[in-house]
Amino acid sequence: AAIYGTRKNSGGTNLHIQSEAKPFFDALAPFKNHQWQAGPIIGGKVQSGEPQQVVSPHNHSDVVGTVGFAGAAQAKEAITLAKAAFPAWRNSNVEVRAKALETFADVMEEHQAELIALVAREAGRILQDGIDEVREAVDFCRYYAQQARKMFNGAEVLPGPTGELNELYVQGKGVFVCISPWNFPLAIFVGQVAAALATGNTVIAKPAEQTCLVAFRAIELALKAGVPSDVLHFLPGDGAGVGAALTSDDRIAGVVFTGSTATAKAINKALADHDGAIKTLIAETGGQNAMIVDSTALPEQVVNDVIGSSFTSAGQRCSALRVLYVQADVADRILELLKGAMQELVVGDPWDYKTDIGAVIDNDAKAQLEAHLEALKDLAKPIATTPMGEATRNGSFVTPTAVEISSIDQLTKENFGPILHVVRFKADELDSVIDAINATGYGLTLGVHSRNEGLALEIADKANVGNCYINRNQIGAMVGTQPFGGQGLSGTGPKAGGPHYLFRFVTEKTRTNNI
Ligand code: NAD
Ligand code: ALA
Repeated sequence: AAIYGTRKNSGGTNLHIQSEAKPFFDALAPFKNHQWQAGPIIGGKVQSGEPQQVVSPHNHSDVVGTVGFAGAAQAKEAITLAKAAFPAWRNSNVEVRAKALETFADVMEEHQAELIALVAREAGRILQDGIDEVREAVDFCRYYAQQARKMFNGAEVLPGPTGELNELYVQGKGVFVCISPWNFPLAIFVGQVAAALATGNTVIAKPAEQTCLVAFRAIELALKAGVPSDVLHFLPGDGAGVGAALTSDDRIAGVVFTGSTATAKAINKALADHDGAIKTLIAETGGQNAMIVDSTALPEQVVNDVIGSSFTSAGQRCSALRVLYVQADVADRILELLKGAMQELVVGDPWDYKTDIGAVIDNDAKAQLEAHLEALKDLAKPIATTPMGEATRNGSFVTPTAVEISSIDQLTKENFGPILHVVRFKADELDSVIDAINATGYGLTLGVHSRNEGLALEIADKANVGNCYINRNQIGAMVGTQPFGGQGLSGTGPKAGGPHYLFRFVTEKTRTNNI
């Protein structure tokens, strides 16, 4: 602690406490009708691009601003600058990089009202999600700053039996392209950038096309905080356009990607086609996440955690619960409670603190989810839906729905929204339940509810998942506490917010000195 300092995750705001809520809403108010303008930032200068209007997912009449999408020529320009800046940034003292990230965290906290407003209006997320986004972004910066200080704390001296001095140390790899999803428009966007910068890489940040405004403000704040403008560049735009232009450029060292499994595979192919060096891919992707509830579980706790895991952020979390396996002996009781709880949820305007569930990201997502609900009519038994109020009329809202199916293998893909599938199982079928979950090939989160600790731990060991949660909800991994990331179709295995994550961004060097 003396060398690395102490670190605490950020506290956030409790909207249920009047003394915290009042200043929070006062600070938020000026951003209710604000219009943001954004574009590519290359070498610290905001450039123009192909203009796109941004409207709010929860209210299509709410224009949030305009963003200029970058093109292939700007991708080349940014990579040229980032490559030229790399040697000096790689050789910079770790303290310079760590301090810049810590200042960035402080500046984001100072601007949290604006960032939360953007998360609500641009991504349709409720205010609590916005608060959590800022907290996580801030935590990633401070955590990776601390981890970098440990990693770059001088070379490790290894045995030198012949009298030579053998040393092992790490260095940044080069230009990293950071490609992020819209569903954590601030936290994952910032987390990727912070990890790459902390380890001495230069960065091109490409946010999801749906959430460029909040990402633009984050980059402006990073530059204001002291991250050098030749080291960090910002290219908003779509995946097939500027995204593909970046990943196909042979001058990059690697890509850190979070998003769908299909896109990760496309990027992997693009990297494999490079003529030059073999490139690094750090990929965190989708899931088909299950929860297993046995007959010893506490029904009220189960329902609370099922609701939180399935419907928080309108089910648009990679970690979200998709398939609830309930032991048949207790299923009727639990499903009755679930039905009651779903009827109490409030779907609507993210700006209203009483809202539990906001919009899905856009009408394409809504159409895909509704097509899935339509297909379920033939293979599923309805359990419950949440009533949809007036506030959902003019936005991309999907009715939170729970249905009963017979097995997880009836689902052929990740359904990224507020749809919960329930399967009953008998006590002697537990092994085949775990086999069916593993057979999906995904391996992100698993929830277990049981008061039989031995059994719960056995399930946790047998399931091929990255994050297993016992007797609690299965979302909201905390930086430094629950390192997060999956296996198989869910990603290449790095744990964001964990002590080994930064090693993916560096190359190791052995120096043998016989002077
Ligand atoms: P997506 O794959 O459609 O897009 C992600 C990013 O990739 C976007 O920035 C997009 O523009 C870019 N992209 C798309 N095609 C590209 C290409 N050919 N080349 C380069 N870039 C390209 O995913 P999404 O819809 O934005 O996000 C939702 C998905 O993300 C879900 O599958 C979810 O499970 C996953 N996710 C995973 C994690 C995790 O930590 N495992 C976290 C959040 C989200
Ligand atoms: N860290 C995010 C969660 O756990 C993905 O929900």
